[in-house]
Amino acid sequence: MGAERILLVDDEQNARSALKSLLSEEGYEIGEAKDGEEALGIIGDFAPGVVLADLRMPRMDGLTFLKKAKEQGSDAVFIIMTAFADVESAVEAMKAGAENYLTKPVSVDALLLFIAKAVGKRKLERDAASLRERVHERFRLGGMVGESPELQAIFELVKKAAPTKATVLILGESGTGKELIAQALHEESPRRERPFIKVSCAALSETLLESELFGHERGSFTGAIGRREGRFELADGGTLFLDEIGEIPLSTQVKLLRALQQREFERVGGTETLKVDVRVIAATNRDLLTAVKTGRFREELFYRLNVVTITLPPLRKRKGDIPALVSHFIDKYAKSHGKAIRALGSGTLTALLAHDWPGNVRELENAIERAVVLSREGELTLEDLPSSLRGARARVPTSSYIAAGTTLREMERDAILRTLALTGGSTVRAAKMLGISARKVQYRLKEYRQTEQLPHEDEEPAPPGGSTAAA
Ligand SMILES: Nc1ncnc2c1ncn2[C@@H]1O[C@H](COP(=O)(O)OP(=O)(O)OP(=O)(O)O)[C@@H](O)[C@H]1O
Ligand SMILES: [Mg+2]
Repeated sequence: MGAERILLVDDEQNARSALKSLLSEEGYEIGEAKDGEEALGIIGDFAPGVVLADLRMPRMDGLTFLKKAKEQGSDAVFIIMTAFADVESAVEAMKAGAENYLTKPVSVDALLLFIAKAVGKRKLERDAASLRERVHERFRLGGMVGESPELQAIFELVKKAAPTKATVLILGESGTGKELIAQALHEESPRRERPFIKVSCAALSETLLESELFGHERGSFTGAIGRREGRFELADGGTLFLDEIGEIPLSTQVKLLRALQQREFERVGGTETLKVDVRVIAATNRDLLTAVKTGRFREELFYRLNVVTITLPPLRKRKGDIPALVSHFIDKYAKSHGKAIRALGSGTLTALLAHDWPGNVRELENAIERAVVLSREGELTLEDLPSSLRGARARVPTSSYIAAGTTLREMERDAILRTLALTGGSTVRAAKMLGISARKVQYRLKEYRQTEQLPHEDEEPAPPGGSTAAA
């Protein structure tokens, strides 16, 4: 990164040159403008980290310039310089987003201090932004969010399997996100520009399913009016997602096995053998192994599909995902229903965390959409949740939005304590989720305990009959 850039805006040529030589000596890169209008013309390209602007200038004054620059999206830190009599306007400038003001003639020490602070603030903001981005990236994959270690491990597996052509079998209860995983596998693969074709195997009769998969020739069965391409053909070069694979009739399973093994097949009623390049992903909420044992599912097909298996745990087994999912769905539905949700009412998240979610993420998503629709005055309250959720008690702590102006230290503290609560106090697992060392977590905890009287570990009840006294 180059030197920090400072834009000087002052109509007095002498004042500018004096400041310029001073600040250049300090290693800053300096841009100049003689009034607000000129400054506005160059601020976009020059992209200064700090702007030092006089308040009174011809054509466009410092305050107007400040407001317009912010409107244009400048993220510079503004320091306003003013004659003593202008303190009122300086206060107004602060209200408009200036970081600080200096009275003229400016004291060199104060100026350098302010600039150093401003540069430091910018760096912190940049660090915080990149931190947020990293957290974001780590807790997201395609359309999926979640911060539980279980889902994190699945994200890793998806990233490893995606670039290959390996067949993937996705298992999990209804509503756990199997389809999203299939989409993520496609999106993260070199096939992403090619088609992603889904077949719902449960919805179709045997004949229709075969024709759907492999296509048919004209007149091959009642209702087969014209010739039709099957999903295998349509997915050529891309990904074929066989949803609810557990519902496929045994006879179709044989044909599917051949198509998977040899990557070739014939259309229903056809003789021509077609070859395709297709990556197959299958999903089911059934227990396929039991289906194999009871003869409902062919063993060879099971092993053929089961090259890489991704098992999505039910939501009740990974409640650590709930806070992130809740805020994701609030954002999504607040937008689509044109509502602003600023806060979760007290007890709301607790109730969401206490529920067992038999319908998994889909049930949670529906509950949040409903609550967003019902919510009033920007707050999502307990009353907005389905009645089955109210009255529940949970011990899991709550998450919250990060308010602007929160210090990195506060954010760090918040993240560490909340993560620890999710991992049940395991510093090792918390450290892994947070991307820092376990020693650092322990060190921070010790600090927090010393400065703010968090409960000590040794304040927990002593084991019966045991003594904690030193030997
Ligand atoms: N981790 C997640 N992040 C965001 N949204 C999710 C997540 N998991 C599931 N969803 C959402 O929950 C709903 C159900 O997910 P999906 O359709 O993938 O489940 P499924 O396992 O295929 O269910 P089924 O077996 O009933 O077909 C979808 O609206 C999906 O977008
Ligand atoms: Mg599904």
